[in-house]
Amino acid sequence: MPRIRIDGHGSFDVAPGTRLVNAIEDAGVDILHRCGGFARCTTCRVTFLDGEPDQMTQAEYDKLESKGDLGAYRLSCQCLVQEDMEIQFLNRLSTSGLDDAGPRPEDLITPDPVWLDEA
Ligand code: FES
Repeated sequence: MPRIRIDGHGSFDVAPGTRLVNAIEDAGVDILHRCGGFARCTTCRVTFLDGEPDQMTQAEYDKLESKGDLGAYRLSCQCLVQEDMEIQFLNRLSTSGLDDAGPRPEDLITPDPVWLDEA
């Protein structure tokens, strides 16, 4: 079973194929996901210290490219946990001043993913 290490929060076993944003939240970490996992808000962004996925969804690519942020971070709502990962994340509900983290992202990646080969 893959293991994710979240900088400052510990390590957690995750069922293979889990959306990374949900794995982080299920570990008890208050990551933001304001658009509900549709690659629109970028509040779920993470940086990878290890285990960055090779694949990227077209939706993630388009969003990062439009912001000029390709290579700066990844959208955890667009990543599946398939192997061990080590991450840092940037946007916590508890430090955001917002009332809620956003709607819980669905279990499967939304919108329906079109996979690009290289991140
Ligand atoms: S981009 Fe909005 S939750 Fe991921």
